[in-house]
Amino acid sequence: MPSSLTGRNFISVLDFSADEIHAVLAAAQAVKADPAAFGETPLERKTLAMIFQKPSLRTRVSFEAGMTQMGGHAIYLGPTDISLGKRETTEDIALVLSRYVDVIMARVFGHHLVEELAASATVPVINALSDFEHPCQILADLQTVQERKGQLAGLQACYIGDGNNVAHSLMYGAARVGMHMRIITPEGYEPDSEVLKIASEVGSQTGANIEAVHSLEATEGADVLYTDVWASMGQEKEAEARKAIFADYRIDATTMERADDDAVILHCLPAHYGDEIDYATSRTPNSALFDQAENRLHAQKALVLLVSGCSR
Ligand code: CP
Ligand code: NVA
Repeated sequence: MPSSLTGRNFISVLDFSADEIHAVLAAAQAVKADPAAFGETPLERKTLAMIFQKPSLRTRVSFEAGMTQMGGHAIYLGPTDISLGKRETTEDIALVLSRYVDVIMARVFGHHLVEELAASATVPVINALSDFEHPCQILADLQTVQERKGQLAGLQACYIGDGNNVAHSLMYGAARVGMHMRIITPEGYEPDSEVLKIASEVGSQTGANIEAVHSLEATEGADVLYTDVWASMGQEKEAEARKAIFADYRIDATTMERADDDAVILHCLPAHYGDEIDYATSRTPNSALFDQAENRLHAQKALVLLVSGCSR
């Protein structure tokens, strides 16, 4: 197990090299196969602070349950508890929390907030979703694809929908592990151009083509199909208008006809059935939605074990 991850932050998928991502995935599979793979209570007396500016089911429960299962403890700090960005400086929050806990995770609106926490904290900081990235999600996604397909490198993945935080982290993750990624969006909703540039550069070193296109026919032959909500947390006011703009950018029976017969369907959840994915398609054998949700638990257990240096 590489000791290089001890003490490290995970703000962007790109913070970890390909080898480091594979190390997390291997540890995630190990704890999934045997929850005592790193000892019965490897995080005994360790505490995780969980800062949330936004709602959560999967992220909050999987991190908290994961800490409990490993003998540690998690403290939930909701939007009104510490008022990140309002009550005191982010620097002071990071410095104070660092005196109490072993790892900090944060779900924020502005990506700068999680970067500022990481810059000032003296313990590892994990991005549990920002407006720009969702790196923990992508660890679970890669684990799920690896389980279903037995490989990552060389697969063709297609993401259909909004060029959002999840799309950005998928582009970085795919680029790192050599998986081709096509982001298919309506015009005007493309992923960030700098993310595309960087992911393409990283991909050129690993053999991954990272593209952003508009044609729905680009799902032809896809091994992995991924979608996410059309309006992310914080974009609620745009939700109605986006319904019309995104109407065709969905996973349904038509999408499945174009894709490979064994294409794996992924959605980070929460889902809006009838919008970005139809319910029937989400319940076909191709769907890995709930394996993916489960893998949040295993991937994040591995992540916390490795960054806190408790993986041996
Ligand atoms: N996928 C995901 O992060 O879910 P939550 O918003 O429920 O945490
Ligand atoms: N893009 C979504 C992901 C939710 C897990 C959002 O930010 O709301």
